Amino acid sequence: MLKVAHITTGYGKKQVLTDVSFEIGKGEIVLLTGGNGSGKSTVLKTIYGLLKIWSAEGKIIFEGEDITALPTAQMLRKGIAYMPQKKNVFEEFTVEENLLTSANIYTTADAKERVKKVYETLPMLETLRKRTPFHLSGGEKQLLAFGCLLVHKPKLVLLDEPFAGVDSQNSEIIANSIADLKKENVTFIIVEHKKYLFENQIDKVIELELGIIKN
Ligand SMILES: Nc1ncnc2c1ncn2[C@@H]1O[C@H](COP(=O)(O)OP(=O)(O)OP(=O)(O)O)[C@@H](O)[C@H]1O
Ligand SMILES: [Mg+2]
Repeated sequence: MLKVAHITTGYGKKQVLTDVSFEIGKGEIVLLTGGNGSGKSTVLKTIYGLLKIWSAEGKIIFEGEDITALPTAQMLRKGIAYMPQKKNVFEEFTVEENLLTSANIYTTADAKERVKKVYETLPMLETLRKRTPFHLSGGEKQLLAFGCLLVHKPKLVLLDEPFAGVDSQNSEIIANSIADLKKENVTFIIVEHKKYLFENQIDKVIELELGIIKN
């Protein structure tokens, strides 16, 4: 469902990825590993169109369609969602307002329905719905960031260290939700050091070393 081909890119003059290519099937969970600075986050950012691809032959094909450098809002509509390493939620908004804001690219009725669905998947968020992130733990905030992503009912989910700084209870909630979504054929690329949290779900491991795929 996703084909990443010959991606060379970087920041400014600094080349980070060299000829990165891989393919992922529908419903697969792929673990993207490698040392600090090996380019894991850069791979996710490139798929999501946040970085310009340097190589002329560099392409990203999603469900047979060329999505190379599509604008972010288009990515969401196509069914691709991305949770960055540094999670951003609106501090001045409540949990529910954050979810509704994420859903604001849809009609009001649709947005409400989508938020309701997220509450069914993550009931914990409904109990926290009136709180602002200031009054949430680190793990609860992460759960909110995950909920903001689920609002889009994605087909492909890019997660950059979703369990970093998350307590065991919320980690379990997120891991269970990933397992449930996999059953519905949702595809994941996950960058995570704590892979034991979802080890039995992993279909494929891609290892990066200095921006080059090792395996
Ligand atoms: N915005 C940026 N500007 C310049 N260089 C950057 C930028 N972001 C990342 N880099 C560099 O690109 C390289 C790869 O970074 P990347 O964030 O992809 O690594 P990573 O594998 O995700 O590392 P970590 O495990 O620490 O999150 C590193 O050398 C990093 O310093
Ligand atoms: Mg990273």
